[in-house]
Amino acid sequence: MARAVCPGSFDPVTSGHLYVFEQAAARFDELVITVVVNPAKRGMFSIAERMDLIGEVTGHLPTVRVDKWEGLLVDFCRDSGIETIVKGLRSGTDLDYEAPMAQMNRELAGVDTLFLLTDPRFAHVSSSLIKEIAKLHGDVEAFVPAPVFRALTARLAGERQV
Ligand code: PNS
Repeated sequence: MARAVCPGSFDPVTSGHLYVFEQAAARFDELVITVVVNPAKRGMFSIAERMDLIGEVTGHLPTVRVDKWEGLLVDFCRDSGIETIVKGLRSGTDLDYEAPMAQMNRELAGVDTLFLLTDPRFAHVSSSLIKEIAKLHGDVEAFVPAPVFRALTARLAGERQV
């Protein structure tokens, strides 16, 4: 059984991420989307909220499982019997950032990284830009799946009332 992991912060998951999940799910028997916990960083959404949103937007992908992990990604791979990490690339800048991690993960544990180009429609989309634009009342509906747009709108409406 060929298993892969798509790791990330996913705060929140975007349409660019979803495109890569769909591409990856078509290539493996099981795809585990793992929210990597960074205790030093408090996100807009909790880990549980991020996982719920990923579950909701990948409901049409039956071989996807959503998980979370704190620690070295290669340890997650070893514990879960995963041989491949899948990462989406938007640009050469992403590759420059990702390549040393991919090399390191291969050296640490023999786990290879498969890079998939995102759809050009989402080449400029990142979770951090989405949050910044949404906080400043910009329209991000075209860049995130509908449940994420609703969650962002509700979260920011709540904050503005405080
Ligand atoms: O969505 P992000 O924040 O760009 O994802 C980066 C992430 C979480 C996938 C990366 O930082 C990671 O793999 N963290 C786990 C800790 C780890 O294994 N670090 C060593 C990498 S060689």
